[in-house]
Amino acid sequence: MLDIVIMAAGKGTRMKSARPKVLHTLAGKPLLQHVLETAGSLHAHRMITIIGHGAESVEQSMRAAVPGAPLAFVRQEPQLGTGHAVQQALPLLGDEGTTLILNGDVPLTSAATARALVEACAGQRLALLTIELADPSGYGRIVRDAAAPERVLGIVEHKDASDAQRAIREVYTGMMAVPTAALKRWLARLRNDNAQREYYLTDIVAFAVADGVSVVAAQPAGEIEVLGVNSPLQLAELERRFQRQRADALMEAGVRLADPARFDVRGELVCGQDVEIDVGCVFEGRVVLGDGVRIGAHCVLRDCEIAAGAVVHPLCHLEGARVGAGALIGPFARLRPGAELGAEVHIGNFVEVKNSTLAAGAKANHLAYLGDATVGARVNYGAGSITANYDGANKHRTVIGDDVHVGSNCVLIAPVSLGAGGTIGGGSTISKDTPPGQLTVARAKQVTVSGWQRPKKAPR
Ligand code: UD1
Ligand code: CA
Repeated sequence: MLDIVIMAAGKGTRMKSARPKVLHTLAGKPLLQHVLETAGSLHAHRMITIIGHGAESVEQSMRAAVPGAPLAFVRQEPQLGTGHAVQQALPLLGDEGTTLILNGDVPLTSAATARALVEACAGQRLALLTIELADPSGYGRIVRDAAAPERVLGIVEHKDASDAQRAIREVYTGMMAVPTAALKRWLARLRNDNAQREYYLTDIVAFAVADGVSVVAAQPAGEIEVLGVNSPLQLAELERRFQRQRADALMEAGVRLADPARFDVRGELVCGQDVEIDVGCVFEGRVVLGDGVRIGAHCVLRDCEIAAGAVVHPLCHLEGARVGAGALIGPFARLRPGAELGAEVHIGNFVEVKNSTLAAGAKANHLAYLGDATVGARVNYGAGSITANYDGANKHRTVIGDDVHVGSNCVLIAPVSLGAGGTIGGGSTISKDTPPGQLTVARAKQVTVSGWQRPKKAPR
């Protein structure tokens, strides 16, 4: 049986933020959510998070973010060290099996590494995740037996270490897997007679050695897996490294990024062949780009599907939209949830589309609004035209038949239906259905007033 304990009670003083540290986001997702999702993939019996600062908001947001997971939250007040933190979880741990200890502020540990640690423990050894660092300062050092270096003797915290120990470059990453029954015994023995007057979880290593339990060390596949976040600078650095990793993976799959350093995925990005993405784009939620899609500079796409050959010109904002093959979007276009565009649709600058379907070949090229509309094939929707879809209480639909031409600056007051092939004269306010194939004009007739004089200033 596997239990997982995640330490997340610390204040994160160096974040200098009112928000609890573990709720700050990496790639659009709270740090702790990354850890809980990875932990969740190990199918633990229980995932116990130790919380303190901002406990209520941490618990609330994680229950919502990872629904259905076997989550438990335990308060640690006050925070007397990492050993004290795990002590708070003891009543919830089973009597046997393995306990995996993770950190809520180390978001990018892979499931494979966590699993390897649990396997190294095998319910009977103390398994530590360690790594060699060029600059180990601040970390707990792994002290090995000089005569038999495969034997780990203990972890000594930086503040308690001698100069010789500080020279050790192998450090404890903050993650370990422990036989649960032994963990319970060892935690009961912790004392705080050290430089920080804290109960150190790391002291259990020496207890294991004294009890004849073997201590083994496993290493992660990469440093990024064990990097923690303590400050806005570290958060931004980890974000960049993570984004670079994703950019590299996409480029290896053939995606052409103008600049991998100016590229952000906050969710999932699926690309076909010959996709090109210019600088400064942000992809959120799940975005799917078909073969040959081109995304111009500085676009934000959230939960969108863009079909093959479509081009999104610079500075567009697309959310919850489906764009058909060969469509042209932007520059400066906004597609909102429920925008469903057929093949070869053109949406130009300053055009907003919401909850509307546009059939193949329809065009709205300038300064327009289509909300709650069904637009037929090859419709031409003129500059400045809008659907008046909201009467102050309810939304209504506008239906525009195939091949309709809507002139410039029209107001279509929904519910209203324009018959196929019809033409709506520019400047019309359409409040009644229009017949197919004919010209409808709904505006005041133009008159010329003969002999009209401009007003003149009165003499003083
Ligand atoms: C700890 C390790 C150190 C290791 C380092 C890796 C100990 C004694 N030391 O040091 O060997 O190299 O992590 O980053 O364990 N926390 C609580 N309650 C507490 C104290 C901490 O929940 O009372 C949480 C923190 O929120 C954080 C984690 O435990 O998520 C680690 O705490 P931190 O203070 O950063 O440990 P370090 O002193 O850096
Ligand atoms: Ca730390």
